[in-house]
Amino acid sequence: MSDVETQADETPFDQIGGSARVQAVVEAFYDLMDVDPAYARLRSIHALDLAPMRASLAGFLTGWLGGPRDWFAARPGVCMMSLHRAMPIDAELARQWTDAMGRALERAGVGSEMAEALREVFGRMAAGMRTR
Ligand code: HEM
Repeated sequence: MSDVETQADETPFDQIGGSARVQAVVEAFYDLMDVDPAYARLRSIHALDLAPMRASLAGFLTGWLGGPRDWFAARPGVCMMSLHRAMPIDAELARQWTDAMGRALERAGVGSEMAEALREVFGRMAAGMRTR
């Protein structure tokens, strides 16, 4: 059985491995952004303290993947694309984000089919967030 072919009532959040896995992806993502010079520009537009972002991205991904929706409940009507509209996102920054996330999915041990599907969607989202 493939890693995304599971029970019909399972959400992607369940399939990926629940909170622990989402948290692992987010930690790997910001750890990479923090230390790898390949993401220096991306790092430079983030606040010095990444702790609030670790919590926020984990909350967003949890609800977005079909898990508990606390993050969305706390931000009625929030739009992820609009949140990024004021940021200076060009093709290189979108690429750095997608690249770091791709590596984070792998580091966190997300199954290959799920990782591939997410890479594809994140790539589209990031490209759509370009403001220049
Ligand atoms: C296209 C490349 C992207 C860039 C350059 C970027 C950059 C940023 C920056 C600079 C912040 C604010 C950080 C801070 O306050 O320190 C942010 C917030 C955030 N981003 Fe992105 N982002 C990108 C793509 C994405 C994508 C694809 C997602 C979702 C899959 C995402 C999810 C979030 C979340 C959840 C927040 C926190 C919002 C909040 O708590 O107010 N970002 N992003």
